[in-house]
Amino acid sequence: MDAADDIDTLVSELTRKEKLALVHGAVDPEGTATGYLPGVDRLDVPPFRLVDGPLGVRAEGERATAFPASLATAASFDPSLAREQGRAMAREATALDQDVLLAPGVNIVRIPHCGRNFEYLSEDPVLAGDVGAGLVSGIESTGVLATVKHFVANNQESARTSVSAEVDERTLRELYLPPFRAAVEAGVGSVMTAYNRVNGTYMSDHATLVGGVLKDEWGFDGYVVSDWYGLATTVGAATAGLDLEMPGVALDTETGNEEGSLDEFEWPDGIPDATHAGLFAGPLGEAIDDGTVPAERLDDMVRRVLGGMDRTGLLGRSDVRADGALDTPAHRALAERVATRGTVLLDNDGVLPLTDETAVAVIGPHVDEPKLGGGGSSETTPFAATTPADGIEGRAEGTVTVARGIPEIESVSLFDLLPFVEGGHDEREWTDDDRPDPSLDDAVEAAETADVAVVFVRDTTTEGQDRDSLALPGRQDDLIEAVAAANERTVVVVRSGGPVEMPWRGDVAAVLEAWYPGQADGDAAAAVLYGDADPGGRLPVTFAPAEDYPATEERQFPGVDGKAHYDEGVFVGYRHFDRADTDPTYPFGHGHSYATFEYLDATVRDGAVEVTVENTASRPGHEVVQAYVRPPESPVERPRQELAGFEPVELDAGESRSVSVSLDELALSYFDPDDGWTDDDGPHTVEIGRSARDLRLAVEYSG
Ligand code: BGC
Repeated sequence: MDAADDIDTLVSELTRKEKLALVHGAVDPEGTATGYLPGVDRLDVPPFRLVDGPLGVRAEGERATAFPASLATAASFDPSLAREQGRAMAREATALDQDVLLAPGVNIVRIPHCGRNFEYLSEDPVLAGDVGAGLVSGIESTGVLATVKHFVANNQESARTSVSAEVDERTLRELYLPPFRAAVEAGVGSVMTAYNRVNGTYMSDHATLVGGVLKDEWGFDGYVVSDWYGLATTVGAATAGLDLEMPGVALDTETGNEEGSLDEFEWPDGIPDATHAGLFAGPLGEAIDDGTVPAERLDDMVRRVLGGMDRTGLLGRSDVRADGALDTPAHRALAERVATRGTVLLDNDGVLPLTDETAVAVIGPHVDEPKLGGGGSSETTPFAATTPADGIEGRAEGTVTVARGIPEIESVSLFDLLPFVEGGHDEREWTDDDRPDPSLDDAVEAAETADVAVVFVRDTTTEGQDRDSLALPGRQDDLIEAVAAANERTVVVVRSGGPVEMPWRGDVAAVLEAWYPGQADGDAAAAVLYGDADPGGRLPVTFAPAEDYPATEERQFPGVDGKAHYDEGVFVGYRHFDRADTDPTYPFGHGHSYATFEYLDATVRDGAVEVTVENTASRPGHEVVQAYVRPPESPVERPRQELAGFEPVELDAGESRSVSVSLDELALSYFDPDDGWTDDDGPHTVEIGRSARDLRLAVEYSG
């Protein structure tokens, strides 16, 4: 008997009550899962556990490997590395008795201020799709299910539970939907709907996008789960195609608070009303009884949820599950590798890499804390972490002086917005309580007496809130200026959840963007600074002053009267900067290696471009070969160029290699609402190079 027959038989044996219990969450008796289904004991259907999230496993009360921000994973431009990370996270989930990871997050970075950009992958749909698919296939290679989220157009945290993304079909098809489609093609087991509305309809209830595009058109056969407390209506969601409500119980019940005690609570902007739950419990039964939801729909929901359980091996019909593994040396090393491969060397006048004997001043308000991640449901608490000061002290052979310079930056977390919910990691767990007060004079003095000053700065972002500025918070810009004035060999290491403004960049000798590096923070920073690891990252998002980004009108972001108008259409990220002919601070795809590369002999055929890349330096290095397509004359306004493919390569000193980059169909056509995907007549130009603004070779391609 095949799986479908077995599951159909199981469905036919379930009572109505048992079916309903399989489509909305319950309280986890172990207290570790983020979402829980009790299973059906009498039919040997065991409990099912869903757990956050993209940066590592966040099982309640447990520790796990804290990987870098997803932007760092994406900055590697390496789907195979993403696959390794997915596999490691999933084995940790299994070790913690969880069956589903609520990851990856693949929403397009539309707004640089979005508080959750660190959980997402890119402003570009091909990069987000390929890296997202890598994560999905890695997670699912272990028998754990992945959950791609948040479907779709969840591109801001301001009013995320109510805002309507007003977006035309072409833009949805070309920009916002493709990473989800890539996840479906990679076999993702579940999809989480977003909190927001799209063109007026809540995503949980969006029949066109959930039942239509995702299920009918793309053939998604897994289950669709609501975001937490994000199911709008019983009948709307059930008939649109939503299959599972999570968490399914009101926060009052879940935490054991007295029922109703949250009635008076004013839910902050961007936080879902956690008393709004149980819509797929009794109310769904009633809707079936009165005929507003067909009974077959409930069977379909149950079939999909049981299908998901089966794919994890829980129904005992297959032995797909890889062994659990938690905090292994391999996982620790991988967390560090993702951090170094994701670190982007934005500028370097030759000061980096440091020589072993360099006398270094390590400066910054948080040099003795690791920067694990941003705030919210992705917060992972590691077993061990290294701070920048530890990392450099452990690696350096010259003198190291440490000075904080200015008071620490206040961190923000979703959990601080919800006083009754515990959560979050405490980066200060790694901090000595008897630290002297920071003083700018100490920092300047440390810089003056050192060969090189390395200043570590950070922003602070969280789920549930957008940044109000791209400037570094606190007096960090002043600190950098003061240190740079004292030592012309000043290096700045930025740890941020997206683009930040760098008014001092002309005054310093080198700038590294390390995103949120996770538990390997200090070791990864030291490895890159001393050249033990080549900075492998390239920018997955454009860096520019806030006013130069596309969605600068209030009606675009955060929106007016409950609507965010995506007036910029497909012109997001580099597509916008090309159209506006504005030079960004650092373009999409930018990043230096410690080596240098030359590009030779490009040819294109059978949907791939082949190019020879030579490492012209006397040291090995990482390069990311990028191919952009320029369309011919078109009846619609198309972006000047679109990323069609990329390939990361590691080349030894002097080595040259032929590199093949396949070209994604997405970049070769546009979406016409009447005719669907449409190719322009005439040859396209394929340009190959090191970033959207550093293209070395061009060839014609006729498709
Ligand atoms: C987030 C999801 C997360 C869920 C469970 C929601 O607030 O938007 O990404 O998986 O909570 O923690």
